[in-house]
Amino acid sequence: MRRSVITGCGSYLPKKVLTNKELATMVDTSDEWILQRTGIQQRHIAGEGEKTSDMATFAAQAAMKMAGVTAQDIDAIFLATTTPDNTFPATAATVQSNIGMHDKGFAFDIQAVCSGFIYALATADNFIKAGQVKRALVIGAEHFTSLIDWKDRTTCVLFGDGAGAVVLEANDNGKGTKDDRGILSTHLHSQGELRSLLYVDGGPSSTKTVGHVRMNGKEVFRHAVTRMSEAIMEAMRANDVDPSEIKWLVPHQANKRIIDATAEKLNLSPDNVVVTVAQHGNTSAASIPLALSVAVNDGRIQRGDLILMEAMGGGLTWGAALARW
Ligand code: UT7
Repeated sequence: MRRSVITGCGSYLPKKVLTNKELATMVDTSDEWILQRTGIQQRHIAGEGEKTSDMATFAAQAAMKMAGVTAQDIDAIFLATTTPDNTFPATAATVQSNIGMHDKGFAFDIQAVCSGFIYALATADNFIKAGQVKRALVIGAEHFTSLIDWKDRTTCVLFGDGAGAVVLEANDNGKGTKDDRGILSTHLHSQGELRSLLYVDGGPSSTKTVGHVRMNGKEVFRHAVTRMSEAIMEAMRANDVDPSEIKWLVPHQANKRIIDATAEKLNLSPDNVVVTVAQHGNTSAASIPLALSVAVNDGRIQRGDLILMEAMGGGLTWGAALARW
């Protein structure tokens, strides 16, 4: 049976760091409030002129290096972002050019906000299973701070910039069981009626502006814990997996309290959860591949480990992916 195996991962964070203390000089907030309510200590901010495609390119190159492949080995790029360089072309096309993937393959963007990486992974996995793609780059990259209203303390303390990427490769040695290496299943959901809970108040066909992020934090929090727990249960049930078999939960990094509540609901020990929200803040579609990269590079995630990824974002969108590393 064909499975899509993650053979490399990479990430990029901009040099500039914005601490809670610095934010407290810009808006009516405090280090204590941000830390207590979100677990965030700092976030990275893209430098002057640094674009989503630049960050995505660095992350993609690092992932290709780990996988031991070049741009000529890649058939497709699936790039999840809410903050493209331009309204069009797709930022994925710029990355295709940047990495030197000339005269071959295809590249497009996927928009599912903070669930973007799960959506992109699911799309790539299905292209691979269908036999249309052998090797893909799946990227989550965000210049999310370009959507921030720096006068709105309820949102400006939460987000950061960055990018993460994985190389996903067809492997025909699967037996069709949960012991196989690679993506075991993906589960996507959305509920458009809830789009006003988390949105950007601008866009080409409405205001003709880029707009700022607006959120009903309390309601989004409530939906996040419920929906992500449901998606996790769905993924475990689909593969006949018990929570004790999950080696690493790699959740979307929006709020430490959401991560803790989700892990607790599923009886997962905090020792088996990868948490990067303190250092990265919420980097939207980039948060899961950034966290993956941290835990692979520090040696926590090892070959054979069962990894559960989950996310929820604007739309509302949510989903989960279960994979054996
Ligand atoms: O990635 C996509 C998904 N996004 C999320 O999952 C985010 C989900 N939501 C959250 O993480 C939380 O709801 C927040 C962190 C956004 C807010 O935490 P909360 O515990 O829900 O706080 P709250 O909105 O109920 O606000 C509590 C108080 C309010 O003051 P009053 O009305 O009690 O006087 C706010 O005005 O905290 C105030 N507040 C702040 N105070 C200091 C709100 N933002 C701040 C701030 N600094 N930055």
